[in-house]
Formats: sequence, structure tokens, C-alpha cells
Amino acid sequence: MKKIIDTLDNDTNAGLVIVDRGMVIRYMNARMAQWTGVTAGQALGASLALAFPACAAALQACLLDALPSGPHGRGAVDNGLPAKGLIQIPTPSGAIECMVCFPFTDIDDELSYAALFYDARDAEAFHRSFGSAINRLLRLQVEQQLLLLKLEHKDDHLLEVEKLAGIGQLAAGIAHEINNPIGYIFSNLRTLASYVREMLNLIDAVDTVKSLDEFRQLRNCPEYEYIRSDVESLIRESEEGIDRVKKIIGALKDFSHPEEPGYRPVDLHRCIETTLKVIANEVKYKAEVVKVYGDIPDVECNASQISQVLMNLLVNAAQAIDNFGVITIRTGHEAPWVWLEVDDTGQGMERSVASRIFEPFFTTKAVGQGTGLGLSVSLSILEHHGGSAEVDSEPGRGTRIRLWLPQTQSATAVPLETAG
Ligand SMILES: Nc1ncnc2c1ncn2[C@@H]1O[C@H](COP(=O)(O)OP(=O)(O)OP(=O)(O)O)[C@@H](O)[C@H]1O
Ligand SMILES: [Mg+2]
Repeated sequence: MKKIIDTLDNDTNAGLVIVDRGMVIRYMNARMAQWTGVTAGQALGASLALAFPACAAALQACLLDALPSGPHGRGAVDNGLPAKGLIQIPTPSGAIECMVCFPFTDIDDELSYAALFYDARDAEAFHRSFGSAINRLLRLQVEQQLLLLKLEHKDDHLLEVEKLAGIGQLAAGIAHEINNPIGYIFSNLRTLASYVREMLNLIDAVDTVKSLDEFRQLRNCPEYEYIRSDVESLIRESEEGIDRVKKIIGALKDFSHPEEPGYRPVDLHRCIETTLKVIANEVKYKAEVVKVYGDIPDVECNASQISQVLMNLLVNAAQAIDNFGVITIRTGHEAPWVWLEVDDTGQGMERSVASRIFEPFFTTKAVGQGTGLGLSVSLSILEHHGGSAEVDSEPGRGTRIRLWLPQTQSATAVPLETAG
């Protein structure tokens, strides 16, 4: 609107008054003040009736008439109506006449009205300057459309860049997560290799000792005792590391492999019951599970994948509870969608955490306790089903995560391979 006001002010000899929906004057240009003798100080914030009593009623009727019945026209000038009859404001030097009224919505989406005036003694010159100003405005509009188009293309490009950045982030995360266990497995193997060498030397000594007692003495050195205890912990630690790498690789497969055939109608309530049985140990010491099941239809989905999503939600909920709390599982139906939510009375999350929980490798858990892949894999599964997830969380209150699944799959949905 500022551009329109500037163009009218600078390129035409028009008077301009802008009022809000309550007919209070919000803007009046200097030319109008000069013509009418009403100063900006008197006009701004005053009602139309107070500032221009001679023509307020006619002007107000004209402004209201100009309001299109549909959504307020942003096309401003396009929606203008020629002033009905002759609305004149008598001025010390003659009269000025209203030429056009139009409504527009300003930057705050507030409805306002503009009225344009011209000096009746100089009508011809005004019409000429007004015509070229409109042309300039139209050109400006075209330029803006072009700019918008360019910005839209930029958006597409940004999406591509974001996708690439996402892949880069994922790759960096994988490298970081896998590097650590691989590092200590490698160092453990080196230590184990040196232990094996020492053990082999010991066994080879059987050939050189004269008696079993002498062999026992050789074996009773402190190094032997140390190796015995260390071997077990090195092997245990390495197995845990390999498990961790396996878990990460397994979860990563879920991001991409479109292999398992088709979806079947699944009773989500049965799916919940089965999942609860599988993770009973993780949940039963942390929370009472309350079920508030709605009347929902079967959902066309991959049951084992949905069960994996549920498992992630329920384990997260249990892990978020410090002592003992409540996990409520609710289901409902808003055709064509079925929803399922897991609501816990755990620690909840700050907004800055809640906004990141679906990012791969985002975790607030101690090193070795969470890979940060649970929810990102879950979201990926949901999206392959054409579904989505919503989070509502507050520190101290708890967390509610609601899943939305389409009741039936469209032909375009791509199933994922089941988690291994
Ligand atoms: N119910 C919840 N309450 C509070 N925080 C949660 C909840 N669910 C998820 N979070 C937060 O989101 C993070 C990411 O969760 P996600 O399940 O993806 O990974 P993780 O649980 O940390 O690790 P993993 O699931 O791989 O063992 C968690 O570390 C935690 O900070
Ligand atoms: Mg988790």
C-alpha cells in the first residue's frame, strides 16, 4: 500500500484520505490538508464526520458501497468504485471532488478504506496524471508477480538444498555414532591379541617345564589373573559395541528399503496389546498403562512396522518417567483418519527439544543409552504410510505424541521393509 500512496502522492495531484473500518482517519496526504485547511493534527485519529462534516455521510456511504461482498479485495484499486453522484468538499479556493473509493486490507489484515479527491477546477490535468500513475502501478504489480515467481523457484531450490543437507547430516551422524564403538572394538581386539600371544607362550611352556608344579608356578603370576578378568570385560564391551552398530545399521535400513509387500487391514487395538506384551518389562516398573480405546475401524497398514513405532513411543514414555507414572494410550477416528496417542506423565520437554525429536541421532540420553534413531525411524514409517505425528509436551507435565494414519492406503504409498 505504501507504494500506491507514494505513487498517488508524487505522480498525481490527488488528495488521499484513508479511514479504518470505524471511519476514523488514519492517513491524509499533505495536498488534502492544503486544499481543505484541515491540518493533519486535526484529521488523524478524528472521525470522518468531525473532520469533514459537509460530506462525511455521502463519503461514508460511498466507502461502504465499495466493499466487495467476498473476501476483502487486496487488489485495492481494482475494487474501487467511482464515487456515486458528486461528493464535494467545499474549500476556500473552490471545491474538491471525490473520484473513487476503495477498500483494502493493510499489513495487519485490517480492513481500511481509501478515498481519492481531485481539484474540480483542474479535472482534466488530474485525469491525465492519474491515468499514467495507474499504468505505473500496474507495471509495479507485474514486477512484483515476477519477483514472487522467482522466490517460488528459489523455494524449490532451497528444498533440494535442505534435502542434501539432511543427507549430509545423516551421514555425519552415522559416522560419529559408528566411529566410537568401532574405535573401542578395534582397541579391544589389539589387547585381546596380545593376551592370546601371552597365553600361547604359556601353553608352549608345557614343552619346557619339568613338572606340573613348575607349570602351575608359571601360571600363578599376577599377569595371568589380570588377563583372565580383563578378557571377559573386553569381550562383553566389544559385543555391546557390535550390537550398537547393528542397531544403527538396522534402523538405517528402515529409512529406505521399499521391499515388504502390501498392507493389510489391521486391528490397531490388537497391535497395541501385542506391542505392550513385547515391552512389558520396560514399562511395568515405570508406569500404569491406561487404555482409552475409541471405536475405530481396521487400518490398512504394515502391522510390524506400526508395532515398531508404538514400541518406540512407549519405551520413550517409560524412559521419560522418573519414578512411577501413568502412560495413557488413546485411539480415535476422524474419517478418513485414525489416530493413536501415547500420553505420559514423564519429565516432558522444552520447546527447543520437542522441535528436534524427529531428527536422526537427536537424543538427550546418556552416551550408550539412546541412538536417537527411534523417533526418526518412526516418522519415516508413518510418512511411508501417508501418516504423520504431532507432539504436545511441557516440562514437568509430560508428553503426548499423536499418530495419524489414513484408514486405507492410496495406491501411491510405498511400504518399508520390516525392522530387522
Ligand atoms: N515421551 C517423551 N518424553 C520426553 N522426551 C522424549 C519423549 N520421547 C522422546 N523424547 C526425546 O526425544 C529424543 C529422541 O527420541 P528417540 O526415540 O528418537 O531417541 P532416543 O530415545 O534418545 O534413542 P533410541 O530410541 O534410539 O534408543 C529423546 O532422547 C528424548 O529427549
Ligand atoms: Mg527412543
